[in-house]
Amino acid sequence: MSGAKIFFCWAAVAILSCLFVQFAGAQITDPSEVTALKTIRNSLIDPFNKLKNWDSGDPCTSNWTGIICYNSTLSDGYLHIQELQLLKRNLSGNLSPELGRLSYMKILDFMWNNISGSIPKEIGNITSLELMLLNGNRLSGPLPEELGYFPNLNRIQIDQNQISGPIPKSFAYLNKTQHFHMNNNSISGQIPRELSRLPELLHFLLDNNNLTGHLPSEFSRLPKLLILQVDNNNFSGSTIPPSYGSMTQLLKLSLRNCNLQGAVPDLSQIHQLGYLDLSGNRLTGSIPSNRLSNNITTIDLSNNSLNGSIPSNFSGLPNLQRLSLENNNLSGPVPSTVWENVTLTGNKSLTLDFQNNGLSNIANALNPPANVTLLLAGNPVCANASQLNIVEFCQPQNVQAPGSLTNSKTSCNPCSTDSDFEINPSSPYPCFCAAPLKVGYRLKSPGLSDFRPYVYDFEEYLTSGLRLSLSQLYIASFLWEEGPRLRMYLKLFPNNTNLFTASEVRRIRSMFTGWEIPDSDIFGPYELLNFTLGSYESVISNPSKSNLSTGAMVGIVLGAIAGAATLSAVITMLILRRHSKYRLVPKKRSLSKIPVKIDGVKDFTFEEMALATNNFSDSTQVGQGGYGKVYRGVLADGTVVAIKRAQQGSLQGSKEFFTEIELLSRLHHRNLVSLIGYCDEEDEQMLVYEFMANGTLRDHLSGSEGVRISWIVCSLFV
Ligand SMILES: *[C@@H]1O[C@H](CO)[C@@H](O)[C@H](O)[C@H]1NC(C)=O
Ligand SMILES: *[C@@H]1O[C@H](CO)[C@@H](O)[C@H](O)[C@H]1NC(C)=O
Ligand SMILES: *[C@@H]1O[C@H](CO)[C@@H](O)[C@H](O)[C@H]1NC(C)=O
Ligand SMILES: *[C@@H]1O[C@H](CO)[C@@H](O)[C@H](O)[C@H]1NC(C)=O
Ligand SMILES: *[C@@H]1O[C@H](CO)[C@@H](O)[C@H](O)[C@H]1NC(C)=O
Ligand SMILES: *[C@@H]1O[C@H](CO)[C@@H](O)[C@H](O)[C@H]1NC(C)=O
Ligand SMILES: *[C@@H]1O[C@H](CO)[C@@H](O)[C@H](O)[C@H]1NC(C)=O
Ligand SMILES: *[C@@H]1O[C@H](CO)[C@@H](O)[C@H](O)[C@H]1NC(C)=O
Ligand SMILES: *[C@@H]1O[C@H](CO)[C@@H](O)[C@H](O)[C@H]1NC(C)=O
Ligand SMILES: *[C@@H]1O[C@H](CO)[C@@H](O)[C@H](O)[C@H]1NC(C)=O
Ligand SMILES: *[C@@H]1O[C@H](CO)[C@@H](O)[C@H](O)[C@H]1NC(C)=O
Ligand SMILES: *[C@@H]1O[C@H](CO)[C@@H](O)[C@H](O)[C@H]1NC(C)=O
Repeated sequence: MSGAKIFFCWAAVAILSCLFVQFAGAQITDPSEVTALKTIRNSLIDPFNKLKNWDSGDPCTSNWTGIICYNSTLSDGYLHIQELQLLKRNLSGNLSPELGRLSYMKILDFMWNNISGSIPKEIGNITSLELMLLNGNRLSGPLPEELGYFPNLNRIQIDQNQISGPIPKSFAYLNKTQHFHMNNNSISGQIPRELSRLPELLHFLLDNNNLTGHLPSEFSRLPKLLILQVDNNNFSGSTIPPSYGSMTQLLKLSLRNCNLQGAVPDLSQIHQLGYLDLSGNRLTGSIPSNRLSNNITTIDLSNNSLNGSIPSNFSGLPNLQRLSLENNNLSGPVPSTVWENVTLTGNKSLTLDFQNNGLSNIANALNPPANVTLLLAGNPVCANASQLNIVEFCQPQNVQAPGSLTNSKTSCNPCSTDSDFEINPSSPYPCFCAAPLKVGYRLKSPGLSDFRPYVYDFEEYLTSGLRLSLSQLYIASFLWEEGPRLRMYLKLFPNNTNLFTASEVRRIRSMFTGWEIPDSDIFGPYELLNFTLGSYESVISNPSKSNLSTGAMVGIVLGAIAGAATLSAVITMLILRRHSKYRLVPKKRSLSKIPVKIDGVKDFTFEEMALATNNFSDSTQVGQGGYGKVYRGVLADGTVVAIKRAQQGSLQGSKEFFTEIELLSRLHHRNLVSLIGYCDEEDEQMLVYEFMANGTLRDHLSGSEGVRISWIVCSLFV
C-alpha cells in the first residue's frame, strides 16, 4: 500500500460522503406514497416495533420493512411501491384509507396479523392490484362495493376474518380474478347469480359463512370453475341444481352442512371429479347409479336421508380412499364388490363407512383385504353378526384421523453451533448440515382424504413448481385440521451446499408470497402461514445496489479502516521492509515461512478453508472485490467467519498480506471485528475474520450508507 493510494482513498471517502449526504436529501420514492405509508403506519399498532425503520430515510432506498419497490423509476421520475409484504408481524389496529394512494401496488399482504376495523373502500383505488391478501385478521364490517372494480385482481383472500354483510354484486366485474377465498367469515345473503359471468374463476371458497338463499344454478356456466366449496352455510330449502352435473371441468364439490334438500344430482359426466362431499344435508331419494370419475378419492354422502340400496357404481374406482354413507336410510345388501379391482399397495387404504343404515343382508361372504376398513355397526345385518361371520365389521367406530406425521430426530451429531444449521434428512449425503428456509404451509381444499400415499407426488409437485431438486424439500410434519385442511411444516434446503444465495432466497420467497407456484389439481390451493428466513434475514433485507452482502462489507470495510487508520504505521513498515528478506519469499510457501509469530492469530490449512466454505462454492460466496472473493464459512468448531481469499497472484509475494495480518492482530478497537487467522499455502492467501451480524458496524459508523459505500470503494485500492 503506497502513501499515494492511501491519500487517494481518504479523498474518495470524503468526496463520496459529501455526495451521499446530498443524494440522501432528495427522496426518490413518490412523496405522496411516502406520506401515505406514514399514515398507514400510524393507524397500525406495532407492539414489537417491527416497522420502526419506517421513521427515517426513503421507503425504496432505505431498508423499510415489508416494502418492495419497482426496480426503476416510472415516467414521473419517481420510484413506486410495488408490494407491501407484512405477513405475520403481530400488527393490530386498523387499515388506513391512505392505502388507496399506493396506486401502483401489485401485492397487498397483511396476512396473519390481528388487524381490526373494516376494509377501507379506498383500497379500490389501487387499480394495479393483483393480490389482495388480508386473511387471518379480525377485519369486520361489509365488503365495499369498490373492491369489485380491480381490473387486474387475480386473487382475493379475506378468509378467517369477521366480515359480514353480502357479497357485493360488483364482484361480477372482477373478470381477471381466479381465486375467491372468503371462507370463515360471517358473510350473509345470497350468492349473487351475476358471479356466474366471471370468465376466469377457478376456486370459489366460501365455506363457514352465513350465506342463505339458493345455490345459483347459473354457476354451471362458469367455464373454468374447478373448486366449489361452500360448506357450513344455510341454503335452507335450496336443492343442488341438476345443472351442476354439466360442469365437466369441476374437480371438487363440497356442500357439507348446507341444509340442502332434494336429490343427489347425477355427477357422472364430470370426468375428473376427485372429491365429493354432500354430507350433513337433508338429501332424499336414492343414490344415482351412474359411475363417478376414476379420479374420485372421496365420496361423502353421510348424514342425509338417502334411501334405496347402495349401487354397484362404487366398485372398481381405482383411487378411492373413503366412501362415507353412514347415517342414512339405505337398505338392501352390503355391497361386497367395492374393493374389487382396487389395488391397495404400499400405504394405500380404503375406508367404507356404512354405519347406521338399513342394510339387511350380505350377498357374498365379506373378505375385504387388510387395508380396507369396513364399518357396518347400526345395520340390521349386525343382528346376525356371528352367524354371518361379520362380527369384526359390526363394532361401532369413529373413523380415525387419516394419519399425521411428525418426523423424529435423526441419529446424526448436531450441526455446528451456528444455530441456523440443520441436518437435511432428504439429502443424499448423510448428516449434511445446511441453513434451511422454513415454511408454514396449508392445503386449503385438498382433493384427497389420506395424504400418505401422495407424499411423494406432493414433494415432486412442490419442488418442480419451485424449480428445486427433490432432495431440497423436507416435510417436517403434517396434520389434518378442520375443513378438512392439511397443515404442513416444510423445510427447504440449499442444493448440496450449506447456504442459499441471497437471490435464491428472494426468488423462493417471492414464489410463495406471490402465489407463483402453479396450482395442483389434486392438492388444490395453498395458504402461506409463515416464512422463516432465519439467518438469511439480514442478507436479503439489505437494499444496497452492490452485490456485496453486509457480512462481506464488514470484512472489507475493516480492512480499509485498519489500513487507513494506521497510515503512518503502514508506511513505516513498508519502508522498513523494502529491502528485507520477505521480498524473496518463494512462490510455494509454507506456514513456516511466515516470519512473525502473531499472538492470537491462527494459521489455517488450505483444507480447513475448503471445508469451511464447501470447497469455495458459489453459494457460500458473499462478496467480490478487486482483490478476490469473500466467503462465509463455518469452521470445524462452529465459528462463523468471513474468509477473504486473494485472487491468485494479486497479493503474491507482496507485503500487504503480512502487514494486514500484523496490523489487524494489534488493533483491538471495540468497533472492529477481529482477525481470527490466515491461510498461506498452495499459492493461496486468505484472511479469516469474525463474521459480524448485520448492522453492528453500521451502528458504530453513525448509520450512514455513504460512509459505508465509500469505504468499499476505498478498500478496492488497498
Ligand atoms: C426489474 O423488474 C422487471 C419486472 O419486474 C424485471 O423484468 C427486470 O428483470 C428487473 N430488473 C432488474 C435489474 O432487476
Ligand atoms: C406475536 O404474538 C404471538 C402471540 O400474540 C406470540 O406468540 C409471538 O411470539 C409474537 N411474535 C413475534 C415475532 O413477536
Ligand atoms: C380514490 O380515488 C378517488 C377518485 O379518483 C379520489 O377522489 C380519492 O381521493 C382517492 N382516495 C385515495 C385514498 O387515494
Ligand atoms: C388481538 O388484539 C386484541 C385487542 O386488540 C387482543 O385482545 C388480542 O389478544 C390480540 N390477539 C393476538 C393473538 O395478539
Ligand atoms: C373486464 O370487464 C371490463 C368492463 O366490463 C372490460 O372493459 C374489460 O375489457 C374486461 N376485461 C377482460 C379481460 O375481459
Ligand atoms: C348468522 O345469521 C344468524 C341470523 O341470521 C345469526 O343469528 C348468527 O349469529 C349469524 N352467524 C354468524 C356466525 O354471524
Ligand atoms: C374387476 O375386473 C374384472 C376383470 O377385468 C371384471 O370382470 C369385473 O367386472 C371387475 N369388477 C368390478 C367391480 O369392476
Ligand atoms: C396395508 O396393509 C399392509 C399389510 O397388511 C400393512 O403392512 C400396511 O401397514 C397397511 N397400510 C395401511 C395404510 O393400513
Ligand atoms: C410456522 O408454521 C408451522 C406449521 O403450522 C409451525 O409448526 C411453526 O411453528 C410456525 N413457525 C412460526 C415461526 O410461527
Ligand atoms: C442441484 O445440484 C445438482 C448437482 O449437484 C444438479 O445436477 C441439479 O441440477 C441441481 N438442482 C437445481 C435445482 O439447481
Ligand atoms: C385423473 O386421472 C387421470 C388418469 O389417471 C390423470 O391423468 C389425471 O391427472 C387425473 N386428474 C386429476 C385431477 O387428478
Ligand atoms: C433491515 O431491516 C430488518 C428488519 O428491521 C433487519 O432485521 C435487518 O437487519 C436490516 N438490514 C440492514 C442491512 O440494515
